[in-house]
Amino acid sequence: MRKIGVLTSGGDSPGMNAAVMSVARSAAMYGIPLIGIKRGYNGLLRKSANLKDDMQELTLELVLDIADDPGTYLRTARCLEFKEKKYQEKAVKTLKSMQIDGLVVIGGDGSFRGAQALCDLGVPCIGIPGTIDNDLPYTEMSLGYDTAVNVCVEAIRKIRATSRSHDRPAVVEVMGRHCGDIALTAAVSTGSEIVVVPEVPWTVEGVAMQLQRQLDRGNYRATIVVAEGCWESMAPFDLYNFLTSRGKPCYPEEPMSAVRFASVMKRMCGMVEARANVIGYVQRGAEPTARDSAFAFEAGNLAVRLLRDGISNQVIGMQKGKVFYMPIEKALKKERYFNRPLFDLVNSL
Ligand code: F6P
Repeated sequence: MRKIGVLTSGGDSPGMNAAVMSVARSAAMYGIPLIGIKRGYNGLLRKSANLKDDMQELTLELVLDIADDPGTYLRTARCLEFKEKKYQEKAVKTLKSMQIDGLVVIGGDGSFRGAQALCDLGVPCIGIPGTIDNDLPYTEMSLGYDTAVNVCVEAIRKIRATSRSHDRPAVVEVMGRHCGDIALTAAVSTGSEIVVVPEVPWTVEGVAMQLQRQLDRGNYRATIVVAEGCWESMAPFDLYNFLTSRGKPCYPEEPMSAVRFASVMKRMCGMVEARANVIGYVQRGAEPTARDSAFAFEAGNLAVRLLRDGISNQVIGMQKGKVFYMPIEKALKKERYFNRPLFDLVNSL
């Protein structure tokens, strides 16, 4: 192996820098130079005028300081062109010209599909799961999920304190476009009363009834945790009629959002107030928890060892608390499990 490349791709996730640091320390120990590729696969497409804007040699001295930092030092991007073969071939050319014989890809399923394409074109690749969403079914852990959940728990506890003080329900939106794991785990960990996720179809009227049940029992400070992608699994609701019939302006094309949803809940349940809180990027830009950093450390080292030993086309994951690896292709075919019993428990209590 003459040189190894490393890139981060997709949404940034806490722990990406720790993984890069571990890759760098391991590569240095095995005497393999390491090249950092900037902005995901874009760096391999050589879009910048200067090579140094696309790639950078990662010396130990450079990366030792970044391990605990949030975000990703290498920058990241979602490179849609990379789905096309001509761009994949261009990337292979770049890697060859740079004498990079193996690549570590830190990202989610889209990034792994890119790695699979490079493997098919003869470039040895290893994937490290990096996404806060926890939507990679082959692994129990992906970098950033634990951190994101902890950020949400901390925020929801604070929101619940104010809800309690004012006897005022709250809607809290957390991230997860197609995956409700952050919402569910955050709801369970905070004792939130209602959780809404993209995996389970739902109706506005149904959630209003759940909230009404809480109010009838004297709980005026219930928390409704919603995943960002849950609006897609919502049954059609005539928001326009609902708001305009109550003298509130609403443009027909306006989609449902946490703010609108809180306002609709307030009116449907006849409450004085219900507030929306969108947690947003503080989940992605947080310092990694010890769990995420420790996983990053092990995964980074394993990735380099596999490439050094001529084992490629694998993704690293965690199963029953142990770090392991399996073929990318197999990992991408695994079906996702959503903890429906836990979801039902939260919503039924
Ligand atoms: O990285 C995952 C994720 O945070 C999803 O939860 C979210 O839907 C998506 O990324 C949003 O990405 P961006 O804000 O970068 O478009």
